[in-house]
Amino acid sequence: MREFKDRTAVITGAASGIGLSLALRAAREGMRLVLADIDEEKLVDAAKTLPVPADRLCTLRVDVSREEDVAALAETAFGRFGAVHLLCNNAGVGLTRLAWELTRADWEWILGVNLWSVVHGIRHFLPRMLAQDGESHVVNTASVAGLLSTPAMAAYNVSKHGVVTLSETLYTELQAQQARIGVSVLCPAWVPTAIHTSERNRPERFGTASPPSASSAAYQERMGQAVKSGRLTADDMATAVFDAVAANRFYIIPHGRIKQAVRLRMEDILEDRNPTPL
Ligand SMILES: NC(=O)c1ccc[n+]([C@@H]2O[C@H](COP(=O)([O-])OP(=O)(O)OC[C@H]3O[C@@H](n4cnc5c(N)ncnc54)[C@H](O)[C@@H]3O)[C@@H](O)[C@H]2O)c1
Repeated sequence: MREFKDRTAVITGAASGIGLSLALRAAREGMRLVLADIDEEKLVDAAKTLPVPADRLCTLRVDVSREEDVAALAETAFGRFGAVHLLCNNAGVGLTRLAWELTRADWEWILGVNLWSVVHGIRHFLPRMLAQDGESHVVNTASVAGLLSTPAMAAYNVSKHGVVTLSETLYTELQAQQARIGVSVLCPAWVPTAIHTSERNRPERFGTASPPSASSAAYQERMGQAVKSGRLTADDMATAVFDAVAANRFYIIPHGRIKQAVRLRMEDILEDRNPTPL
């Protein structure tokens, strides 16, 4: 999709980080915006900073892990602006724990926000996007964790691998239908955002995470440092996304050097080697 002006973008997780940068870039492109986040107060404050007239902007409190909330988001977007041209399933959360320390509630929270959200997004937006005229595009935010298996991130890795394969499947299906809907999957490495404090937005129904063991705490500390020292910014992610959408490119891997680790993982698989530790 090359034309963005006067088209409508729906972005989840838009109150912070990569989602907010996507919203800023979409606003600068002259798009209409439907912005969703579980943190309504922060979303409303963030939306006020965007260069977009009030009648071209809509914000909605959405918990993307809940199907009824995503259904309401689709209703709002199509009801208000008639069509959706860019759907960014971006909201996500992480929790650093050794696999056997993750509780069932941790798994349900992380898979709900990171993976089920994309399933809900596809089920509630795609039929209507297929029925509308013109080009459109879906961008799913995965992670390099969808291509690699970093320790102490089991639920996150599983969720992001799910987003990658779901996106690949969607792409091939839409191609086979000759649909005018492009698909991209964003796979960043470390980006300095608030992702390492994801628990701030954990819905009550998932309870709170149990305290980490010393090993998990050490991984957690390292993960936080890695996020904070990420060299590419959320704005760089937005630039990479808009470039890829304009070029109809599927894989968006802005941290080029991480491809070495992906290659090694693929070679381990193809050459029957045990996984090389990351
Ligand atoms: N920052 C990184 O290093 C990095 C790397 C790879 C992938 N990602 C992915 O990028 C995406 C955006 O994360 P970010 O880094 O900007 O983090 P962030 O914490 O700054 O932003 C995430 C946003 O999602 C919202 N959110 C959380 N739970 C939600 C829910 N249930 N419903 C709706 N909104 C919810 C948060 O309120 C927040 O505004 C996520 O999918 C994340 O997994 C981030």
